Amino acid sequence: MRYLSIAMSKGRLTDLSIELFENIGIDCSDLKDSSRKLILTDEKNKIRFFLVKPSDVPTYVDYGAADIGIVGKDTLLEEGRDLYEVLNLGFGACRMVVAGPAELQGKLDSLNNKRVATKYPRIAREYFEHKRRESIEVIKLNGSVELAPLVGLAEVIVDIVESGRTLRENGLVVLETIADISARMVVNRVSMKMESDRINRIIEGVRKQLDRRREQG
Ligand code: PRP
Repeated sequence: MRYLSIAMSKGRLTDLSIELFENIGIDCSDLKDSSRKLILTDEKNKIRFFLVKPSDVPTYVDYGAADIGIVGKDTLLEEGRDLYEVLNLGFGACRMVVAGPAELQGKLDSLNNKRVATKYPRIAREYFEHKRRESIEVIKLNGSVELAPLVGLAEVIVDIVESGRTLRENGLVVLETIADISARMVVNRVSMKMESDRINRIIEGVRKQLDRRREQG
């Protein structure tokens, strides 16, 4: 039997993803070790986990290097790859928003050629240029995006908001919501056919667990 490979997002989603797999009988003890190994294995079930940067998960799954991936919807929208999105896992819930100073509330339309700072250039372009039909200048940043409007680098930002604390503590507000975000399970399209039994067993196990949680509130 060949190994089934699962690409996991390193970071906020890791612990909750591990819990999900452990609850369906997959041995994740290797994953919980704080080693620097990048391939962690459950020999009994012939499953390998790869720990990668969230934005790389869709790439591994698209090329079939991983059969399954666990990744945020934000990353899926940004990477725009043709993957099979099989489950909304519910955790990692947040919103993709346009945010900026409170003075801009209700005035987004009057800002022509806005400069938009973001870690998500594709999502920002899609939203402003295709949905709102406005031209924007995208300024790609790699983190601490909330700083940009405070120092005149951009008028607004496109970013994720979870608790709202970062915006609040920097005097910014949500101007518009673009999408609801949460963690998703994705599957490579070929793997879905070639390994359908094993993959469907995992999907069903996780789905039942999510249903149980929902019932328990
Ligand atoms: C994310 C996001 C916001 C913040 C939102 O950044 O880009 O800055 O979290 O969370 P909150 O609403 O709960 O405050 P992250 O922590 O990933 O760091 P980064 O800015 O370095 O990317």
